[in-house]
Amino acid sequence: MLRSVAKCLLANPVSACRRTMSHSSLAGKTAIVTASTDGIGLAAAEALGQRGAHVVVSSRRQANVDKAVSLLRSKNIQVTGTTCNVGKSEDREKLVQLTVDQCGGVDILVNNAAVNPFFGNIMDSTEAVWDKILAINVKSAFLMTKLVVPHMEKRGGGSVVFVSSIAGYQPMQLLGPYSVSKTALLGLTRALAPELAQSNIRVNCVAPGIIKTRFSSALWQSEELVDEFKKQLAIKRLGEPEDIGGVVAFLCSDDAAYMTGETLTVTGGMSCRL
Ligand SMILES: NC(=O)c1ccc[n+]([C@@H]2O[C@H](COP(=O)([O-])OP(=O)(O)OC[C@H]3O[C@@H](n4cnc5c(N)ncnc54)[C@H](OP(=O)(O)O)[C@@H]3O)[C@@H](O)[C@H]2O)c1
Repeated sequence: MLRSVAKCLLANPVSACRRTMSHSSLAGKTAIVTASTDGIGLAAAEALGQRGAHVVVSSRRQANVDKAVSLLRSKNIQVTGTTCNVGKSEDREKLVQLTVDQCGGVDILVNNAAVNPFFGNIMDSTEAVWDKILAINVKSAFLMTKLVVPHMEKRGGGSVVFVSSIAGYQPMQLLGPYSVSKTALLGLTRALAPELAQSNIRVNCVAPGIIKTRFSSALWQSEELVDEFKKQLAIKRLGEPEDIGGVVAFLCSDDAAYMTGETLTVTGGMSCRL
């Protein structure tokens, strides 16, 4: 073991040293990632797990949970899985309780779950659409945070990450209510950060651009549309879930110890501002 570390250091002293440190930096931590059986959530769970965290994955369907757990286990990641629809308070409580019972506490929460039940002109959106989008995308993320904070306080601190979107900066056509919910997360990040800093809990946010997942498939299934998007990108490809997973893990690590209340846009260079 020592010999291979020395060999690695001699070959490339700076990068090898940094790599060893950053991979071990989440050892001993427990991370809850919501909606983590596919896409960005699964990639975030994997990135946290690769850095040594025990990850708790969940989503609505047991079959998806089972698949994600075996995938992560096959990569030697410490993982626990359960079903959780973040819109249901009993499910949120079950997720947090199971994490505390099986892992002894919570250090990291990634609020990744979101829905979009509506495509169309914003003026055609109904009260039911707004209730659903705000309940899942904003309210449940806050309520999950409220549930885990006492457990993070028991550990002496923690890290919360919200998953917003570039649509939170520039509302996307036909995705008005969803875009507004993602703007709300930018505000929630800022509102929570000073209050939770008193408990040594950092609160940050990541705003992905267009990432190839099932959720965004309507945006990338036509080549024409992809070409249109590429014109707006500095890096001429759509994002992959792993492009976001690593950034989430960075925000949760001590490498980001002096960051709170921030949103990192991860968009391949698509320009965005509020
Ligand atoms: N893809 C993009 O281009 C993009 C861009 C910006 C932001 N985002 C954001 O990234 C996040 C993840 O999106 P994604 O693209 O990775 O989606 P995805 O690949 O389609 O995965 C969605 C995951 O969410 C779970 N899920 C759905 N509803 C849930 C609920 N109510 N409670 C718990 N789990 C639920 C699904 O599993 P079950 O079906 O088993 O529940 C699945 O594991 C969302 O917040 C989205 O707004 C995505």
